[in-house]
Amino acid sequence: MKRLSVPAAELHVLDRGAGLPLVLLHAFPLDHSMWSAQIERFASQYRVIAPDLRGFGTSSVTAGTVTMEQLADDVAAILDGLGVTEPVVLAGLSMGGYAAFQFFRKYPQRLRALVLSNTRAAADTAEARQGRLKTIDQVLTIGAGPVAEAMLPRFFTTESFERLPGVVEFVRERILLTAPEGIAAALRGLAERPDVTGLLPEIKLPTLVVAGADDAITPAGEMRTMAAAIAGSELVVLPGAGHLSALETPVEFNTALARFLRKLEA
Ligand code: MLT
Repeated sequence: MKRLSVPAAELHVLDRGAGLPLVLLHAFPLDHSMWSAQIERFASQYRVIAPDLRGFGTSSVTAGTVTMEQLADDVAAILDGLGVTEPVVLAGLSMGGYAAFQFFRKYPQRLRALVLSNTRAAADTAEARQGRLKTIDQVLTIGAGPVAEAMLPRFFTTESFERLPGVVEFVRERILLTAPEGIAAALRGLAERPDVTGLLPEIKLPTLVVAGADDAITPAGEMRTMAAAIAGSELVVLPGAGHLSALETPVEFNTALARFLRKLEA
């Protein structure tokens, strides 16, 4: 992992391999290690860059609100710090996808392609926002435990719970290791993130949309509608996957991503 200074934070970033840069942005409240299967698969052919986003993993925690725009600015600063000047393939899962939309809005010239996985363009509903505010109170008073217990059944399908107990435990541990202040700051940013539906028709880049057939957080139907609004995008719905598709069905996820990346280089 490399340690990079960005405005008001130190971020840890995995930077492995050479070739077309593939930047992987993790979900909330995880860290770069959720991409292990993708890092292993793609670092022999591409330059894989996977940060612990601000507030997560071993990166610094900043108080207050960490907006999706802040995360996008951090990614730009990371690329500067690593000396990456060529356009990158930016892949984001869920919160990583929200940050990818903001990166597209602010830094379109730095993008070669987008991968939007288990994410959505819409803002939070009023109810979802209320839920996040309640979670902030909980996490700051009793810690990350209740967040883990509430999120795990929504992250994974029932079958994944039975089939992949080690993966579920791994994700539970990542959540429990995350600083409550980091979780709270990101929750504030998630709650106030803008609706980017109007941005979708402006995406003219090659775009892969990956959905989990049984995703309880960002349902496949909603992702299908999102993909339809991005002209020329490719939609892959992964059977047997819930919200954390890259972890639940890594082989199928990687197959779809490999095919997409190969086409970019053709
Ligand atoms: C995530 O997986 O990043 C979160 O579920 C995003 C969200 O809560 O909206």
